[in-house]
Amino acid sequence: MRKNVKLFAVIILVFSLLLTSCGVKDTTSSNVPESDVIYQVMIDRFYNGDKSNDDPEVSKGMFDPTYTNWRMYWGGDLKGLTEKIPYIKGMGVTAIWISPVVDNINKPAIYNGEINAPYHGYWARDFKRVEEHFGTWEDFDNFVKTAHANGIKVVLDFAPNHTSPADENNPDFAENGALYDDGKLLGTYSNDVNKLFHHNGGITNWNNLKDLQDKNLFDLADLDQSNPIVDKYLKDSIKLWFSHGIDGVRLDAAKHMPMEWVKSFANTIYSVKKDALLFAEWMLSGPTDPLYGYNIQFANTTGFSVLDFMLNRVIRDVFGKGYGFDRLNDTIEETNKDYDNPYKLITFIDNHDMPRFLSINYDKDKMHEAIAFIMTSRGIPAIYYGTEQYLHNDTNGGNDPYNRPMMEKFDGNTKAYVLIRELSKLRKATPALQYGKTVARYVSDDVYIYERQYGKDIVVVAINKGEETTVKNIETSLRKGKYSDYLKGLLEGVNLKVERRNSENNILSITLPKDSVSIWTNVRVK
Ligand code: NOJ
Repeated sequence: MRKNVKLFAVIILVFSLLLTSCGVKDTTSSNVPESDVIYQVMIDRFYNGDKSNDDPEVSKGMFDPTYTNWRMYWGGDLKGLTEKIPYIKGMGVTAIWISPVVDNINKPAIYNGEINAPYHGYWARDFKRVEEHFGTWEDFDNFVKTAHANGIKVVLDFAPNHTSPADENNPDFAENGALYDDGKLLGTYSNDVNKLFHHNGGITNWNNLKDLQDKNLFDLADLDQSNPIVDKYLKDSIKLWFSHGIDGVRLDAAKHMPMEWVKSFANTIYSVKKDALLFAEWMLSGPTDPLYGYNIQFANTTGFSVLDFMLNRVIRDVFGKGYGFDRLNDTIEETNKDYDNPYKLITFIDNHDMPRFLSINYDKDKMHEAIAFIMTSRGIPAIYYGTEQYLHNDTNGGNDPYNRPMMEKFDGNTKAYVLIRELSKLRKATPALQYGKTVARYVSDDVYIYERQYGKDIVVVAINKGEETTVKNIETSLRKGKYSDYLKGLLEGVNLKVERRNSENNILSITLPKDSVSIWTNVRVK
């Protein structure tokens, strides 16, 4: 008897080891990060929930209630964001990525007589405090608590590469890069007794990693993470935010910090939260970026995934500028090979550093198609706030800061809002969209038909961004039968009939309407 028990235990052990080594995942769980849908919010531009912090005493004079000076604070805050959580949840969003909320400089940086306030949050002075324009620790805790109660994770944008604008020869410029430790001054850029900063001038060679890491990004005082004081300060700071309940980090300016340090930073985070959602902004200019190899190395070794800039550039070319789908499919195939875990890449059509999609192509159909693509292709989709309300301002081509308008409405019935909601449900319902492999079934300039499959779950997506067209004889893994469009015609999609021919399942002929997205699946969504 005891022998049998032992044998049974050994069989179970071998079996589970085999499953792990095959990379088999628990297909019943929808709580894996790959099922996430992220919503990116710039706090200052979202919703003003507390007028009392619009122009705080300690940092007076940087608020513009008329929304005309795009480089001033406009009043959005943590209370406002908390109030709007039900609206965000209604889209099926499972994680909110918030712009940095650490305390930023209290004086503006004046360039050519123009005030530049740190409404965006990337000019820190104290990583251990909450920016007073956005609220208090209590407001932050309340935001996290409400998000969690609604099944939403909180991802904090964190910028440990630098403090704020500084000029070595002009200590009176802004706050002179000052760094504080919960209120205690550690140093400034021109009085750097603790050697907190690099003093090598601004970056000149943008293709040289060393230059990027050891020199100032623009005029931002570049922290030296190899200094033990800085290292400990930044790690203690991030632990503090995790102790306030955050679930993940979007790491700013990642290519400007040594990879080894980023790795140790990730380890610090994992030591306090082993399932933290970590991704980094490791900006790439496009497929020919000479630093692409480092980007891959970063994503594969540091413990941080990356925002998928490679795919982003191509999505904008294909849906925004009329390029053919072969580009998109090639990029998917190449990046799938290069990144160890392409399912954890963060996909997006736009963000706060580039013109919004509608500013490069004012065609809502194309934007819906692009959204449908990121919601169904590999990677975790991130939707930039307001996309679902067609928010955009095209001044100066829609470049920063015009890509950061104040959120104007919170309408839960726009086509984009409903689209995101329905596709979030599908993502959550099936591992096929979370970590299923992608097989291209048909690729032309205007038509892209791809299949995602995991186990028995199959999702087929057909996007036609051109005129009505009929495509024939397409192989599929879907079994013989009839499939209705999952989106019920929301994007003009059609129903499908799959036949069995020559021992293959086949779409003999399908007519795809102009500008349509059809989604066919054998997955039942509740
Ligand atoms: C990238 C951020 O996304 C951008 O908005 C910011 O200005 C720079 N990093 C510097 O922090």
